[in-house]
Amino acid sequence: MSTSKASLGILISGRGSNMDIIIRACQANQINADVAIVISNNPNANGLILANSLGIKALAVNPRDFNTKHEYENTICELLVDHSVDLVCLAGYMKIVGNTLLKKYDNKIINIHPSLLPSFKGLNAQKQALEYGVKFAGCSVHYVNDVLDGGKIILQDIVPVSEDDTEETLSHKILEKEHQIYPKAIQKVLASFKKSEE
Ligand code: GAR
Repeated sequence: MSTSKASLGILISGRGSNMDIIIRACQANQINADVAIVISNNPNANGLILANSLGIKALAVNPRDFNTKHEYENTICELLVDHSVDLVCLAGYMKIVGNTLLKKYDNKIINIHPSLLPSFKGLNAQKQALEYGVKFAGCSVHYVNDVLDGGKIILQDIVPVSEDDTEETLSHKILEKEHQIYPKAIQKVLASFKKSEE
């Protein structure tokens, strides 16, 4: 990795707008990496089509085809290793990462979450924020560990919440910020890999 570009693996479950931004940022050399592979747990994810249209290998690994989470994640690990992936980026990957992936890519898996962690972990973070009545929401990129949305934070940004925001409008505003911070966070993590190699 020290002499050439890093290889990213992206895990998705659906739309893939963060994945799209990451691929484009790599292709524009705004991130010093190439996206080697996109994997979705959901065979119907639109992000798979989008990734293919951008020239990136993208495929589904369906957990339903495996007896255990270990076997499912082991297949993902094999694909990531076969593609020499250095850093795994979760981009709307709506499954809890288990031990098999965590062990193989220790401290090398990051995630984007649509809240200012440690507030509003888990599902429907934007809805949770509105229900709580917070005046500022936002998004976080963080390392993934065995605590759900609990790993160390890499970057965050804030979004003011208006009185008339709905889950949909707030999600849209947060998503715009997600698209800004995720490429920056990846660059930051890759720079930290370089430093630890020196
Ligand atoms: C994004 O808002 C992301 O933060 C969220 O899912 C959306 C995926 O959108 N992720 C989570 O809630 C993870 N807990 P995308 O597929 O268009 O990137």
